[in-house]
Amino acid sequence: MFYLPLFHRFDGRECLVIGGGQTALRKLRWLLRTDAQIKVVAPEILPEIAELANSEKLQIEQKAFYPEALHPDLALVICATNADGVSEEAYAIASQRRQWINCVDRTDLCTVIFPAIIDRWPILVAVSSMGQSPTLARTVRGWLELRLPLALGRLAELAGRLRDVTKQKLQDVDARKGFWDRVFSGPAATAAMANDFAKAEAIALAEMEGASENGRIVLVGAGPGDADLITLRGLRAIQTADVLLYDKLANPDLLNYARRDVELIYVGKQGPREQSAGKALESSAEQQQQINALMLEHASAGRAVVRLKGGDPYIFGRGGEEQEIAQLANVELQVIPGVTAAMGAASYCGIPLTHRGLSQSVSFTTGHKVQHSNEDDWQGFARADQTLVIYMGLVGLETILGHLMTAGRDGATPAALVENATLPEQREVFAPLKKLAAITASRGITGPSIIIVGEVVALAPAYANASRAAEGSEP
Ligand SMILES: C[S@@+](CC[C@H](N)C(=O)[O-])C[C@H]1O[C@@H](n2cnc3c(N)ncnc32)[C@H](O)[C@@H]1O
Repeated sequence: MFYLPLFHRFDGRECLVIGGGQTALRKLRWLLRTDAQIKVVAPEILPEIAELANSEKLQIEQKAFYPEALHPDLALVICATNADGVSEEAYAIASQRRQWINCVDRTDLCTVIFPAIIDRWPILVAVSSMGQSPTLARTVRGWLELRLPLALGRLAELAGRLRDVTKQKLQDVDARKGFWDRVFSGPAATAAMANDFAKAEAIALAEMEGASENGRIVLVGAGPGDADLITLRGLRAIQTADVLLYDKLANPDLLNYARRDVELIYVGKQGPREQSAGKALESSAEQQQQINALMLEHASAGRAVVRLKGGDPYIFGRGGEEQEIAQLANVELQVIPGVTAAMGAASYCGIPLTHRGLSQSVSFTTGHKVQHSNEDDWQGFARADQTLVIYMGLVGLETILGHLMTAGRDGATPAALVENATLPEQREVFAPLKKLAAITASRGITGPSIIIVGEVVALAPAYANASRAAEGSEP
């Protein structure tokens, strides 16, 4: 059966709700947002429904259903009761008169059905399975809920504020459509959703005059690997990007969320082996300068630039440097955090990074730092009551762990190395500190890896077995 989706206006017409329980209450809450005059007929009435009767729109008749309650002028009948035969009787009367009737959970007794609704007033999204599976419709609603910002209604408010001036100034329909597309996916929308309507209107009016200001840069943390770990705000920034610069560690699936006309630019840094033969080698600093220049060039041309970075932009992600560059160039920059690799790896392995009685603090450092630090620094990294997480420590792993043990960290301390954390190809090596480097080397691990050292590692469900096996192996 195909049901036509319509949004209906009641304008004072009468509706009858048969039933006084939770289901009736849910339907009533929607009905009360219309201008309908509503009557509830039921022998038992929930106190919440009784309270709603204070509204002028609602009248309650506390008695069992009687056929005369269903009089010919009713615009809609909702039957939310399990009482024997009531739904059938109400349906027989209403359908014969061609009145709209909805008997809850009885699609065979409905001429209209309720969708699952996402409410971002004045934006309402209705999801229906045509009565086949209300549960599936509710599940789909849940998925969509996540994609729609809570402040979506403010965009409608912005549109309302600008409607007259837009009609006046942009008489061509296509020009108006293009203008709204840009407003809804640009900085005016961001400002409106942050409740700054003065700024939103100013940006939109500048856009209308063709004098839109500088673009902006948004640094978005893509999370450690699993695309689902990005934040909702990060996802929305991707959806509104004109230009999207992405690096090696950001999950490429996330690019599917960008607009079809987005300009995608890969800016993953290349090591000496990945650079083309015959060309002068570029250092990481030189490559970073080129990325900075690209971001500024596009933003200065008035475009919305999203820089999608693996993990979190502020953790070993050069987010701070890019922020300084934008500040110097007077370009607006926003940072949207991401789940950093340490947290992704820890969660996906079941390692609580802090734990009462075992670890009171956690340090994030880079392999480079540990490798080249002096002895005083190693003492700090080697403290027994902390968890140490080492990024970029795969190359030089043996040296790094050697320094830690020389500085006093017990070789029996539980440790883990997690490669490709949070991705389907994640691999873990669990071993006491003194054996971690040798076992890692024997497994041929080469992907992005994070090392976690501390008593908390032993809390990982897989640790006990893996470390027993490691103890049995050659040192
Ligand atoms: C330049 S840093 C970027 C860190 C990133 N900004 C973050 O917050 O996770 C790159 C290093 O992060 C670690 N890393 C990033 N993603 C990882 C993953 N999925 N699994 C394990 N380690 C990862 C590795 O140590 C890698 O060498």
